[in-house]
Amino acid sequence: MHPGGEALSRRRFLHIAAAGAAALAGGSVAALSSCDPATGPGTGDGIRSPLAMPATLSAAAASLVAAPGTASIARHESSSAWLFNGLLPGPTIRARQGEQAHIHLLNHLPEPTIVHWHGVLVPALADGHPRYAINPEASLDYEFPIVQRAGTFWYHPHAHHLTAGQIHRGLAGFFIIADEEEDALGLPSGPREILLLLQDREASAAAAFNYAPTTADLHTGMLRGVPFGNGVRLPTLEVSRQRYRFRVLNGSQARVYLIALDNGASLSVIGNDGGLLPSATEVESVFLSVGERIDFLIDFAAFPAGTRIMLKSLPFSLPSAPDTQYPQGLEMNLLELVCTGGGGATDPALPAVLSSVPPLAAAGAPEREFVFRSTEDMHLINGRSFDMNRVDEQIPLGQVERWLFLNDSALPHPVHLHGSHFQVVSRSGGRNLVFPYEAGWKDTVLVMPLETVEVLVQFDRYRGIFPLHCHNLQHEDMGMMLNVEVI
Ligand code: C2O
Ligand code: CU
Ligand code: CU
Repeated sequence: MHPGGEALSRRRFLHIAAAGAAALAGGSVAALSSCDPATGPGTGDGIRSPLAMPATLSAAAASLVAAPGTASIARHESSSAWLFNGLLPGPTIRARQGEQAHIHLLNHLPEPTIVHWHGVLVPALADGHPRYAINPEASLDYEFPIVQRAGTFWYHPHAHHLTAGQIHRGLAGFFIIADEEEDALGLPSGPREILLLLQDREASAAAAFNYAPTTADLHTGMLRGVPFGNGVRLPTLEVSRQRYRFRVLNGSQARVYLIALDNGASLSVIGNDGGLLPSATEVESVFLSVGERIDFLIDFAAFPAGTRIMLKSLPFSLPSAPDTQYPQGLEMNLLELVCTGGGGATDPALPAVLSSVPPLAAAGAPEREFVFRSTEDMHLINGRSFDMNRVDEQIPLGQVERWLFLNDSALPHPVHLHGSHFQVVSRSGGRNLVFPYEAGWKDTVLVMPLETVEVLVQFDRYRGIFPLHCHNLQHEDMGMMLNVEVI
């Protein structure tokens, strides 16, 4: 049972508002911890394994094979998994603005699949809509131009009812777009560009990739206690005394991370889901919900060799949170960073302006509301469950609209839109602010319990049917999704 139901008390409501404000102001949120950091499962002092970077493919001629395989989760420990090209993360697909992508997908899985390019603006036919899922042993060729700015995107399966299981078993990879604007910034690259896919799993090799959600998981989303990075349990990374770029992707099932460094140093955030922010912003912590990306710099020049810094998920609490074994807000040690003796070089200062993001004109924009509601065994948007052949909303190409995402439940809902990015204008209730790292363009926004998030959206590229859905993967698979048709 989930005490509190839909009626959340004022006191608990303030609790999360305070957590958000403290995180923003750099205050301590440790006081809000609901578990003992010394014994909490997420902080586990197990043996750490080196974080490895995924292999790379060019989008101009890429071939992906989704098939059963074996994932190495630590030294001498591996798990049966489902993988793209035998790898976790799948190969990183790299593209430049202006290029044409040609990607071949072969389905070697025992069930239908389809690949979606999350955050990449592609025609509706190439977007991986669930109704285009292909059968086992079938293949599909995707062709689309890269029309957007540089940024950190990803790809993953999107077959209806099967998305959560396929991602959990290991099917996910990065899709990185570069452009001239970003080149000019001279950001850290090569060994100083770290891609980090975060997922929470069970610790044992036998259970880590097994998809067997419980009834409780189908309500809250599947939350587990041990952090994995790029498929490896409790990762560690050696860094030289220089500036690094971290592109972090939350590819978990349901977990929200509150990312920070354990030495209190700030993160210099330069980008999020839609690419570069207008300017870099220094923050103490970042809420990162499923599907979201965050792109930040850490300069290790100031730390002596041997320094160990932990990239953490800080504890936080939710109003009327369901009582589960590994609740949202569990403290976790995500990635250990060990400074080596090298480097010590001073990188050039970043320019004050990273990119320009013209604000969408809000005046006179028509408004639509989307109410996200969860009951014991249902997850609905505007009272409806997904029918992949039903059009739920129609929006004219080019029209700017004001959309309100209302969370009428005790669970976080990361709301994701295909076919267009959006701009976050306001958040009321709950954390009650728009965080500086939510500036620019976003394709996924976290709507915590009791929050209403207001965004401006304009589909200005392609007509056709694009999903809007909750990216909690159990919620998504159970129908918290609808079809928006751009006409
Ligand atoms: Cu990342 Cu519709 O998905
Ligand atoms: Cu998407
Ligand atoms: Cu949800």
